[in-house]
Amino acid sequence: MFTPGGLRPAPTVAAVGGARTGIRLSPGGTFWGVEETEVPELYGALLTELARLDLAYVHLEATTGEEVLVGLRRAWPGTLIMNPVLPMGPKQTGRTEADHWLALGADLISFGRGFLANPDLVERLRTGLPIAPVDEATYYQGGDAGYLTYPAYQYTA
Ligand SMILES: Cc1cc2nc3c(=O)[nH]c(=O)nc-3n(C[C@H](O)[C@H](O)[C@H](O)COP(=O)(O)O)c2cc1C
Repeated sequence: MFTPGGLRPAPTVAAVGGARTGIRLSPGGTFWGVEETEVPELYGALLTELARLDLAYVHLEATTGEEVLVGLRRAWPGTLIMNPVLPMGPKQTGRTEADHWLALGADLISFGRGFLANPDLVERLRTGLPIAPVDEATYYQGGDAGYLTYPAYQYTA
């Protein structure tokens, strides 16, 4: 998709339009043995090309340093969704991380583990209730545990 001579219209954008298309990027991410160098330059160039497609959003994972991510925020003129913590890292995204990134210029914040563990996450965020941590032992296990078993706050006391 990313070619030095410029981005060709992506098939998804050609099919449904940029307003219905978003992309999630993991700048500098190292999952599955990926090794990237010159991350600010690489992703800055990619975002410049992606801007021509008028996408609905770019969604960034915090897979590189904050100063690089802030630079990418500046390089992307459209809607930026930020996922503020290291994927699968020790800390799940909560209110503090969300507020931090809203102050740094994110338009929207995404929550992964918070939504798994809190069926009422939006209500908890809205009212300042504590956000429950996810139980990693339930990942990929099948069955109800970890999918249908987390209680809403009013039932936890
Ligand atoms: C069980 C589980 C599976 C995930 N699978 C994916 C995936 O397939 N693709 C992806 O980009 N991120 C995946 N993630 C990462 C999340 O999208 C998110 O970036 C990460 O959990 C950090 O955000 P959080 O602190 O809000 O959970 C997964 C996370 C969890 C907990």
